[in-house]
Amino acid sequence: MNDASRSPFLFRVLADDLEAMILRGAYRAGERLPSVRVLCAERQLSLGTVVQAIGELEARGLVEARPRSGTFVKVRNVFTAPTSSSGSTRSRPVPLQHLVEAFVEASGDKTLIPLGGTVLAQELLPVRHLQRIGRELLSKDQDVLCKYGPPSGDVELRRCVSKRLVALGMRALVDDIVITSGAMSAMRLAISVTTRPGEVVAVESPTFFALLPMLRDAGLRVVEIATSARVGIDLDALASLATRKAFSAVIVTPNFHNPTGACLSKERRLALLTLARRHRFTVIEDDVYGDLYFGDRRPSPVAALVKEGDDVLYCSSFSKTLAPGLRVGFVVGARRRDDLVRAQRSNTISAPLLNQRIIAGFLRDGAYERHLRRLRTALRRQVAATTQSLARHFPKGTQVTSPTGGFALWIRLPDKQSGLSLYETAFQRGIAILPGHAFAIDDRYADHIRISCGHPWSQRLEGAVQTLGSLLEASPASRARVRPKART
Ligand SMILES: Cc1ncc(COP(=O)(O)O)c(C=O)c1O
Repeated sequence: MNDASRSPFLFRVLADDLEAMILRGAYRAGERLPSVRVLCAERQLSLGTVVQAIGELEARGLVEARPRSGTFVKVRNVFTAPTSSSGSTRSRPVPLQHLVEAFVEASGDKTLIPLGGTVLAQELLPVRHLQRIGRELLSKDQDVLCKYGPPSGDVELRRCVSKRLVALGMRALVDDIVITSGAMSAMRLAISVTTRPGEVVAVESPTFFALLPMLRDAGLRVVEIATSARVGIDLDALASLATRKAFSAVIVTPNFHNPTGACLSKERRLALLTLARRHRFTVIEDDVYGDLYFGDRRPSPVAALVKEGDDVLYCSSFSKTLAPGLRVGFVVGARRRDDLVRAQRSNTISAPLLNQRIIAGFLRDGAYERHLRRLRTALRRQVAATTQSLARHFPKGTQVTSPTGGFALWIRLPDKQSGLSLYETAFQRGIAILPGHAFAIDDRYADHIRISCGHPWSQRLEGAVQTLGSLLEASPASRARVRPKART
């Protein structure tokens, strides 16, 4: 039976399939699609059907045929998608559930101007030193390849982490620490030992964009608590929620919150603990940016202010300071220690041993503190340079945060202009930013964007900020704003 007789739309099924693979990043921009012959064999389709499907993808603007070379992907993965069958390359809104995926993908795309992910430029990281430690481990320490590590993590790394945390005033003995695959996995463990599906968890709003899908996947209900750049999470709103509704945990980023940069005052940290004690909820503290302060002293974690019996789980990682690709983080909570180890055992057994030992090697010889000193100076400069550039190029009425640590700027666009539109147009011009949409369940931050300052300032970045500014000024809302002035 000829496949056309099975269904007149088989070519469209194949085209849709390939489109989904392109948009979800299975085939990247510039990559060659499998040949017509291979597609015929794999899909059990006739030559005519496959050729028609490729033609359909061309019409959708997704691929281009290059004579004697094959068919190549034209668009960049999930960020933009041409409208179906029209042949036009107008973009349609990005499905928000794909933002996290798309974003991680884009952080590795060196052709994009990197104002999007809070990922540091390679030149700010001690890559050679880490490589040397890794090479030595691979040549001398067969365990890193041939053994599982303990579920609680490599003891040498836990010792190093313990020393740093105790110096911050935390009770973090070697046995209180569980090493995880990044802070994400630390928070996932913290959530799994403090909540059950169906329960309520409070989060800051706006919040770190990967947290919301994680909580949804854990079957939790999320209540968003307003968080401002000036004071951080609104404790009155949290107290009011606590009197109305039982919730299991609140997830907070007291130090240089992502995206607002807020840093909670000590009084507010203490008030948060008092509230947690009174209403019996767990505080899950996310402190991935705490070491990146611009002032004289590191703000101490909420976990350093606890009293006997308080239920605080402290999560952090080396992703924002050292090596995001190694995916090494940790969760600390003496009271919940056994549950955390059990959860880690059933989660991944243990974090990768090689990665843990590379970080331990770096921490052990004091290199980390020296590295952090240099990094903080660089980030302070980068944040200042970006802020100045925004002031030069963004329209009047733009509001920009001025964080005292970290490397994100949270920007409110004037005249309610759309962050998502700016994100999409910027992306087509090779500039990555993040739209405010990504930081809440609904579109309440539709007129915001987040810009990351993880790269040393350069003409290229200056040009990118200038382009972003000109895209805004060209928008209809902005024209409407200036027109009355022009008439006078
Ligand atoms: C506030 C916050 N927490 C956690 C993470 C994730 O950290 P990790 O890469 O260690 O999983 C990020 C990453 O951007 C973040 O901004």
